[in-house]
Amino acid sequence: MTILDGKKVSNDIKNEIAEEVKKMKAKGEKVPHLAAIIVGNDGASLTYVASKVKACERVGFESTMVRMSNTTSEIELLDKIHELNTNPEIDGFIIQLPLPKQIDTQKVLMAVDPDKDVDGFHPMNFGKMALDMSTFIPATPFGILELLDRYNVETKGKHTVVIGRSHIVGRPMSILMGRKGFPGNSTVTVTHSHTKNITQITSQADIIISALGVPNFLKAEMVKDDAVIIDVGITRVADDTSPKGYIITGDVDFKNVSKKASFITPVPGGVGPMTIAMLLKNTLLARELRH
Ligand code: GUN
Repeated sequence: MTILDGKKVSNDIKNEIAEEVKKMKAKGEKVPHLAAIIVGNDGASLTYVASKVKACERVGFESTMVRMSNTTSEIELLDKIHELNTNPEIDGFIIQLPLPKQIDTQKVLMAVDPDKDVDGFHPMNFGKMALDMSTFIPATPFGILELLDRYNVETKGKHTVVIGRSHIVGRPMSILMGRKGFPGNSTVTVTHSHTKNITQITSQADIIISALGVPNFLKAEMVKDDAVIIDVGITRVADDTSPKGYIITGDVDFKNVSKKASFITPVPGGVGPMTIAMLLKNTLLARELRH
Protein backbone atom coordinates (compact mmCIF):
# COMPACT_ATOMS: atom_id res chain seq x y z
CA MET A 1 0.00 0.00 0.00
CA THR A 2 1.30 3.42 -0.97
CA ILE A 3 0.18 6.62 0.72
CA LEU A 4 -0.57 9.37 -1.79
CA ASP A 5 1.22 12.06 0.19
CA GLY A 6 -0.52 15.32 -0.67
CA LYS A 7 1.48 17.22 1.90
CA LYS A 8 4.77 16.29 0.24
CA VAL A 9 3.57 16.70 -3.35
CA SER A 10 1.92 20.04 -2.59
CA ASN A 11 5.20 21.20 -1.08
CA ASP A 12 7.06 20.14 -4.22
CA ILE A 13 4.57 22.09 -6.34
CA LYS A 14 4.87 25.17 -4.13
CA ASN A 15 8.66 25.00 -4.47
CA GLU A 16 8.30 24.79 -8.26
CA ILE A 17 5.96 27.81 -8.24
CA ALA A 18 8.30 29.76 -5.93
CA GLU A 19 11.09 29.17 -8.47
CA GLU A 20 8.89 30.60 -11.24
CA VAL A 21 8.11 33.64 -9.10
CA LYS A 22 11.83 34.18 -8.45
CA LYS A 23 12.44 34.22 -12.20
CA MET A 24 9.60 36.72 -12.70
CA LYS A 25 11.04 38.98 -10.03
CA ALA A 26 14.55 38.74 -11.53
CA LYS A 27 13.11 39.94 -14.84
CA GLY A 28 11.36 42.81 -13.07
CA GLU A 29 7.89 41.40 -13.82
CA LYS A 30 4.90 41.83 -11.55
CA VAL A 31 4.30 38.73 -9.42
CA PRO A 32 0.91 36.92 -9.49
CA HIS A 33 -1.76 38.43 -7.26
CA LEU A 34 -4.63 36.30 -5.92
CA ALA A 35 -7.67 37.75 -4.15
CA ALA A 36 -10.24 35.84 -2.12
CA ILE A 37 -13.69 37.08 -1.15
CA ILE A 38 -15.19 35.58 1.96
CA VAL A 39 -18.74 36.39 3.00
CA GLY A 40 -19.72 35.69 6.62
CA ASN A 41 -17.94 34.10 9.56
CA ASP A 42 -17.99 30.36 8.90
CA GLY A 43 -15.04 28.95 10.85
CA ALA A 44 -14.01 26.34 8.28
CA SER A 45 -14.22 28.82 5.38
CA LEU A 46 -12.12 31.38 7.29
CA THR A 47 -9.51 28.69 7.97
CA TYR A 48 -9.39 27.68 4.28
CA VAL A 49 -9.02 31.26 3.08
CA ALA A 50 -6.32 31.96 5.69
CA SER A 51 -4.43 28.89 4.39
CA LYS A 52 -4.74 30.18 0.83
CA VAL A 53 -3.34 33.59 1.85
CA LYS A 54 -0.48 31.93 3.75
CA ALA A 55 0.31 29.76 0.71
CA CYS A 56 0.52 32.91 -1.43
CA GLU A 57 3.12 34.37 0.94
CA ARG A 58 5.06 31.12 0.89
CA VAL A 59 5.52 31.17 -2.91
CA GLY A 60 5.99 34.94 -3.24
CA PHE A 61 2.55 35.84 -4.65
CA GLU A 62 0.69 38.92 -3.57
CA SER A 63 -2.68 38.28 -1.99
CA THR A 64 -5.74 40.21 -0.91
CA MET A 65 -8.45 38.92 1.37
CA VAL A 66 -11.80 40.67 1.06
CA ARG A 67 -14.06 40.08 4.06
CA MET A 68 -17.76 40.88 3.76
CA SER A 69 -20.43 40.56 6.44
CA ASN A 70 -22.92 37.73 6.68
CA THR A 71 -25.71 40.16 5.73
CA THR A 72 -24.05 41.22 2.46
CA SER A 73 -26.61 41.56 -0.34
CA GLU A 74 -26.20 39.98 -3.76
CA ILE A 75 -25.79 43.44 -5.32
CA GLU A 76 -23.00 44.36 -2.90
CA LEU A 77 -21.17 41.15 -3.71
CA LEU A 78 -21.66 41.67 -7.47
CA ASP A 79 -20.22 45.20 -7.10
CA LYS A 80 -17.16 43.80 -5.34
CA ILE A 81 -16.73 41.19 -8.09
CA HIS A 82 -16.92 43.93 -10.72
CA GLU A 83 -14.22 45.82 -8.82
CA LEU A 84 -11.90 42.79 -8.86
CA ASN A 85 -12.73 42.01 -12.51
CA THR A 86 -11.59 45.49 -13.53
CA ASN A 87 -8.65 45.89 -11.15
CA PRO A 88 -5.51 45.36 -13.28
CA GLU A 89 -3.47 44.48 -10.17
CA ILE A 90 -5.52 41.32 -9.56
CA ASP A 91 -4.66 38.31 -11.76
CA GLY A 92 -7.19 35.91 -10.32
CA PHE A 93 -9.73 35.67 -7.54
CA ILE A 94 -12.05 33.25 -5.83
CA ILE A 95 -15.27 33.56 -3.89
CA GLN A 96 -15.14 31.13 -1.00
CA LEU A 97 -18.19 28.87 -0.93
CA PRO A 98 -20.72 28.30 0.53
CA LEU A 99 -22.37 31.72 0.38
CA PRO A 100 -25.16 32.94 2.70
CA LYS A 101 -28.70 32.01 1.70
CA GLN A 102 -29.70 35.48 0.40
CA ILE A 103 -27.12 35.17 -2.39
CA ASP A 104 -27.62 33.18 -5.61
CA THR A 105 -24.32 31.29 -5.99
CA GLN A 106 -24.66 30.57 -9.72
CA LYS A 107 -25.42 34.23 -10.49
CA VAL A 108 -22.36 35.30 -8.52
CA LEU A 109 -20.04 32.76 -10.16
CA MET A 110 -21.24 33.85 -13.60
CA ALA A 111 -20.23 37.44 -12.79
CA VAL A 112 -16.54 36.51 -12.44
CA ASP A 113 -14.36 37.40 -15.44
CA PRO A 114 -13.58 33.92 -16.88
CA ASP A 115 -9.93 35.00 -17.37
CA LYS A 116 -9.63 35.63 -13.62
CA ASP A 117 -11.72 32.61 -12.57
CA VAL A 118 -8.90 30.61 -10.96
CA ASP A 119 -11.43 28.29 -9.26
CA GLY A 120 -12.69 27.25 -12.72
CA PHE A 121 -16.32 27.57 -11.58
CA HIS A 122 -17.58 29.90 -14.35
CA PRO A 123 -19.80 27.99 -16.82
CA MET A 124 -17.49 29.03 -19.67
CA ASN A 125 -14.47 27.46 -17.99
CA PHE A 126 -16.46 24.44 -16.84
CA GLY A 127 -17.67 23.96 -20.42
CA LYS A 128 -14.15 24.30 -21.79
CA MET A 129 -12.99 21.67 -19.32
CA ALA A 130 -15.73 19.29 -20.48
CA LEU A 131 -14.69 19.91 -24.11
CA ASP A 132 -10.97 19.19 -23.44
CA MET A 133 -10.05 22.82 -24.08
CA SER A 134 -7.26 24.48 -22.14
CA THR A 135 -8.72 26.29 -19.10
CA PHE A 136 -8.69 26.59 -15.30
CA ILE A 137 -9.55 23.21 -13.79
CA PRO A 138 -11.23 23.40 -10.35
CA ALA A 139 -8.49 23.12 -7.75
CA THR A 140 -9.58 19.98 -5.89
CA PRO A 141 -10.13 17.81 -8.99
CA PHE A 142 -6.94 19.29 -10.48
CA GLY A 143 -5.08 18.31 -7.30
CA ILE A 144 -6.38 14.74 -7.52
CA LEU A 145 -5.25 14.47 -11.16
CA GLU A 146 -1.83 15.79 -10.15
CA LEU A 147 -1.50 13.20 -7.36
CA LEU A 148 -2.47 10.37 -9.72
CA ASP A 149 0.01 11.71 -12.26
CA ARG A 150 2.96 12.14 -9.90
CA TYR A 151 2.49 8.67 -8.39
CA ASN A 152 1.94 7.16 -11.86
CA VAL A 153 -1.36 5.58 -10.88
CA GLU A 154 -2.81 3.78 -13.93
CA THR A 155 -6.26 5.14 -14.83
CA LYS A 156 -6.67 3.92 -18.45
CA GLY A 157 -9.45 1.36 -18.79
CA LYS A 158 -10.04 1.37 -15.04
CA HIS A 159 -13.47 1.63 -13.47
CA THR A 160 -13.60 4.85 -11.47
CA VAL A 161 -16.48 5.35 -9.06
CA VAL A 162 -17.08 8.91 -7.93
CA ILE A 163 -19.17 9.34 -4.78
CA GLY A 164 -20.93 12.71 -4.84
CA ARG A 165 -21.94 15.03 -7.68
CA SER A 166 -21.13 18.47 -6.25
CA HIS A 167 -20.27 21.21 -8.73
CA ILE A 168 -16.90 21.68 -7.01
CA VAL A 169 -15.63 18.10 -6.85
CA GLY A 170 -17.83 15.15 -7.88
CA ARG A 171 -19.19 16.52 -11.16
CA PRO A 172 -15.89 17.87 -12.55
CA MET A 173 -14.01 14.79 -11.31
CA SER A 174 -16.38 12.48 -13.15
CA ILE A 175 -15.80 14.43 -16.38
CA LEU A 176 -12.02 14.59 -15.97
CA MET A 177 -11.54 10.88 -15.26
CA GLY A 178 -13.38 10.00 -18.46
CA ARG A 179 -11.46 12.44 -20.68
CA LYS A 180 -8.87 11.29 -23.18
CA GLY A 181 -5.30 11.20 -21.90
CA PHE A 182 -3.60 10.60 -18.58
CA PRO A 183 -4.95 10.76 -15.95
CA GLY A 184 -8.23 9.84 -17.63
CA ASN A 185 -9.51 7.20 -20.05
CA SER A 186 -11.42 5.67 -17.15
CA THR A 187 -14.91 4.22 -17.28
CA VAL A 188 -16.73 6.42 -14.80
CA THR A 189 -19.74 5.76 -12.58
CA VAL A 190 -21.17 8.68 -10.59
CA THR A 191 -23.03 7.80 -7.41
CA HIS A 192 -25.10 10.14 -5.23
CA SER A 193 -27.83 10.30 -2.61
CA HIS A 194 -30.34 8.46 -4.84
CA THR A 195 -27.99 5.64 -5.81
CA LYS A 196 -29.26 2.21 -4.85
CA ASN A 197 -26.96 -0.60 -3.67
CA ILE A 198 -23.90 1.61 -3.51
CA THR A 199 -21.77 -1.22 -2.05
CA GLN A 200 -22.44 -3.30 -5.17
CA ILE A 201 -21.01 -0.44 -7.24
CA THR A 202 -18.05 0.58 -5.06
CA SER A 203 -16.95 -3.03 -4.66
CA GLN A 204 -16.43 -3.20 -8.44
CA ALA A 205 -14.34 -0.04 -8.55
CA ASP A 206 -10.65 0.07 -9.38
CA ILE A 207 -10.55 3.70 -8.26
CA ILE A 208 -12.91 5.31 -5.73
CA ILE A 209 -13.07 9.08 -5.33
CA SER A 210 -15.25 9.95 -2.36
CA ALA A 211 -16.48 13.53 -2.03
CA LEU A 212 -19.48 13.05 0.20
CA GLY A 213 -18.66 14.72 3.52
CA VAL A 214 -19.89 11.83 5.68
CA PRO A 215 -17.17 10.76 8.14
CA ASN A 216 -16.00 7.13 7.78
CA PHE A 217 -18.68 6.39 5.15
CA LEU A 218 -16.52 4.10 3.01
CA LYS A 219 -15.88 0.84 4.87
CA ALA A 220 -13.48 -1.98 4.01
CA GLU A 221 -16.32 -4.29 2.92
CA MET A 222 -17.32 -1.74 0.24
CA VAL A 223 -13.90 -1.88 -1.41
CA LYS A 224 -12.16 -4.56 -3.47
CA ASP A 225 -8.55 -5.61 -2.95
CA ASP A 226 -5.93 -3.27 -4.46
CA ALA A 227 -8.38 -0.43 -5.13
CA VAL A 228 -7.08 3.14 -5.36
CA ILE A 229 -8.82 5.29 -2.74
CA ILE A 230 -9.07 9.07 -2.94
CA ASP A 231 -10.70 10.70 0.09
CA VAL A 232 -11.96 14.24 -0.45
CA GLY A 233 -13.96 14.40 2.80
CA ILE A 234 -12.92 17.02 5.35
CA THR A 235 -15.57 17.08 8.06
CA ARG A 236 -14.98 18.63 11.47
CA VAL A 237 -15.95 16.08 14.11
CA ALA A 238 -16.20 17.19 17.77
CA ASP A 239 -13.35 15.78 19.85
CA ASP A 240 -12.70 16.93 23.43
CA THR A 241 -9.19 15.49 23.46
CA SER A 242 -8.01 17.73 20.61
CA PRO A 243 -6.86 21.31 21.40
CA LYS A 244 -9.19 22.76 18.76
CA GLY A 245 -12.17 20.78 20.09
CA TYR A 246 -12.57 18.95 16.77
CA ILE A 247 -10.67 16.67 14.44
CA ILE A 248 -10.77 16.62 10.64
CA THR A 249 -12.25 13.34 9.45
CA GLY A 250 -12.41 11.94 5.93
CA ASP A 251 -15.12 9.92 4.17
CA VAL A 252 -12.99 6.79 4.37
CA ASP A 253 -12.51 4.41 7.30
CA PHE A 254 -8.78 4.74 6.75
CA LYS A 255 -7.64 2.22 9.37
CA ASN A 256 -9.45 -0.68 7.71
CA VAL A 257 -9.68 0.44 4.07
CA SER A 258 -5.91 1.12 3.88
CA LYS A 259 -5.28 -2.60 4.53
CA LYS A 260 -6.94 -3.44 1.20
CA ALA A 261 -5.95 -0.43 -0.93
CA SER A 262 -3.04 -0.22 -3.38
CA PHE A 263 -2.91 3.59 -3.08
CA ILE A 264 -4.77 5.77 -0.58
CA THR A 265 -4.88 9.44 0.43
CA PRO A 266 -4.80 10.24 4.15
CA VAL A 267 -6.97 12.89 5.83
CA PRO A 268 -5.49 15.29 6.69
CA GLY A 269 -2.46 15.49 4.40
CA GLY A 270 -3.95 14.07 1.21
CA VAL A 271 -6.25 15.97 -1.14
CA GLY A 272 -6.60 19.07 1.11
CA PRO A 273 -3.10 20.50 0.66
CA MET A 274 -3.22 19.68 -3.07
CA THR A 275 -6.26 21.96 -3.50
CA ILE A 276 -4.29 24.96 -2.30
CA ALA A 277 -1.24 24.12 -4.43
CA MET A 278 -3.38 23.86 -7.56
CA LEU A 279 -5.13 27.15 -6.82
CA LEU A 280 -1.65 28.72 -6.82
CA LYS A 281 -0.90 26.94 -10.09
CA ASN A 282 -4.10 28.33 -11.64
CA THR A 283 -3.15 31.81 -10.41
CA LEU A 284 0.25 31.49 -12.04
CA LEU A 285 -1.53 30.44 -15.24
CA ALA A 286 -3.89 33.44 -14.98
CA ARG A 287 -0.88 35.74 -14.63
CA GLU A 288 0.77 34.19 -17.70
CA LEU A 289 -2.43 34.46 -19.76
CA ARG A 290 -2.77 38.16 -18.94
CA HIS A 291 0.80 38.87 -20.13
N1 GUN B 1 -15.45 25.72 -0.74
C1 GUN B 1 -15.06 24.45 -0.65
N2 GUN B 1 -14.12 24.19 -1.60
C2 GUN B 1 -13.94 25.32 -2.28
C3 GUN B 1 -13.10 25.69 -3.37
O1 GUN B 1 -12.33 24.90 -3.93
N3 GUN B 1 -13.20 26.97 -3.78
C4 GUN B 1 -14.05 27.85 -3.21
N4 GUN B 1 -14.08 29.08 -3.70
N5 GUN B 1 -14.84 27.56 -2.22
C5 GUN B 1 -14.78 26.30 -1.74
